[in-house]
Amino acid sequence: MASYGLSAAILGACVLAIHLIGAEETLYVAAVYEHRVILNPRPGVPLRRRAALEHMEKNLHAFAEQAALAALQGAHILVFPEDAIHGFNYTRASVASYLETVPDPEEVTWSPCADPGRFSNTEVLRRLSCMARKNRLFLVANMPDRQPCSRASDPLCPPDGQYQFNTDVVFSDNGTLVARYHKQNLYFEAAFDTPPRNKYVTFTTPFAGRFGVFTCFDILFREPAVTLVRDMGVRQLVYPTAWMNQLPLLAAVQFQRSFSYSAGVTLLAANVRAAALGMTGSGIFTPWEAVYHHDSTEGEQGRLLVSRVPVLDPLAVVGHATFSEEPTPPFTSTMMYDNFTLVLLQGREGNLTACDGSFCCHLLFRRSDPPEEELYALGAFDGLHVVHGTYYLEVCALVKCPGQHKGSCGGETERAQTLIDFQLDGIFSTEHVYAGVLGSGMTLDRPDQSGWQSGGRFYMKRRGMTTGLVTAVLYGRVYEKDSCLLSADSP
Ligand SMILES: *[C@@H]1O[C@H](CO)[C@@H](O)[C@H](O)[C@H]1NC(C)=O
Ligand SMILES: *[C@@H]1O[C@H](CO)[C@@H](O)[C@H](O)[C@H]1NC(C)=O
Ligand SMILES: *[C@@H]1O[C@H](CO)[C@@H](O)[C@H](O)[C@H]1NC(C)=O
Ligand SMILES: *[C@@H]1O[C@H](CO)[C@@H](O)[C@H](O)[C@H]1NC(C)=O
Repeated sequence: MASYGLSAAILGACVLAIHLIGAEETLYVAAVYEHRVILNPRPGVPLRRRAALEHMEKNLHAFAEQAALAALQGAHILVFPEDAIHGFNYTRASVASYLETVPDPEEVTWSPCADPGRFSNTEVLRRLSCMARKNRLFLVANMPDRQPCSRASDPLCPPDGQYQFNTDVVFSDNGTLVARYHKQNLYFEAAFDTPPRNKYVTFTTPFAGRFGVFTCFDILFREPAVTLVRDMGVRQLVYPTAWMNQLPLLAAVQFQRSFSYSAGVTLLAANVRAAALGMTGSGIFTPWEAVYHHDSTEGEQGRLLVSRVPVLDPLAVVGHATFSEEPTPPFTSTMMYDNFTLVLLQGREGNLTACDGSFCCHLLFRRSDPPEEELYALGAFDGLHVVHGTYYLEVCALVKCPGQHKGSCGGETERAQTLIDFQLDGIFSTEHVYAGVLGSGMTLDRPDQSGWQSGGRFYMKRRGMTTGLVTAVLYGRVYEKDSCLLSADSP
């Protein structure tokens, strides 16, 4: 039986799920396979190459089956776990027969499947390349790599004249080796060397643009993860791992989820299944949603997860992750004679708050790029409306500003081209909140969902609108306050 308790709690904490604009071309299908690795029972004892290959073929056989299943479900990319072909607990000497020399794809264009004779001793590379090619998908796997070096030219070269790296390899859907990443942050791995320099490895796909690569323990360190995301603007990552769960803070899916959410990135995380070692927990995480698997029981063989996920555009490289942009200062503007406090929406997506006194409205949004940049603002108003009637309001409103200047926000317009997916919410003192969504050309739309959450918070969500957004509003009416104000004002 699966144990979802922890994971459900993590997901439950993320109520602010918003979604992407539903245009077909912005989605792709990602797959990760949590593989129950078949281990070498005596990893300390050196094997001949032939025996090592026989051992690895048992795992590769399972990979091939899963690659075919993923392809049947339309996967564009499939990620396999760290250590899932060869296993772990080798010594520097005993891993020798498992090593292949992975050429640098920045220097050599090579499809091992199409051209197997070009480099010798590359059976595993060939097997993986053929899986990618046969199934027409990008394939990510982890294997041990041997790179000869010379102490004459490289003082860091190990005494035996070779580096041994824990390595991720990526093949394109025609079998070409397109990326090679050497794990930077080893976790007590006697068989491997730490790469002498940080490298930031990415590869580009036709279906979703650029992906970055890192491995397991790397997720807890600045290099290469933070540089990839924050300085290079990478927002999609493939992540082979062999992670031992550790509660309360570092279960695999728990931290995968946190990383994806907080960095605003998609993380395709494939973990090994090894119940005896506490290894399980894989998933397909976007900043908004997660499809994941955590099963610490002995019985199960493995699990293929497949999910349609949105393409994330690269961040503008400004040194900030997604939700950490400096908010614009609030300003006031009148909307329907009321003095709203507003903040402008900036960028393609974000998370902002507008408060009128202690009444605050929150917005999570993601928007399309219309032909012309349109200005939007989030506004809050808490007070007595006194023109053309007297009534007490608590209003959260996302509005398209009619002009290009913030002074226009709150003014009338019927037209908009920008598609916005959003969640809008506020904490209301009244239980009477009317949610509305208005599209361009007076198209009436409605929320996908709305309702109360704890603490008096009322929310609505909408995604996939096909007309530009003119207004989204939570219109709270505080009936009880108008009557007392009216009677106080009455002569
Ligand atoms: C690997 O070594 C650790 C201790 O160093 C041990 O706890 C674990 O059982 C070993 N795993 C395997 C698969 O041999
Ligand atoms: C194979 O894939 C790579 C990477 O996507 C691409 O650059 C190359 O043109 C492809 N080769 C062929 C023959 O399609
Ligand atoms: C609107 O509110 C701001 C800040 O509370 C205030 O400075 C301004 O005078 C108000 N304007 C009107 C028209 O009430
Ligand atoms: C949005 O910002 C608020 C306040 O800064 C924060 O509590 C919340 O977690 C943020 N949500 C997201 C999805 O970034």
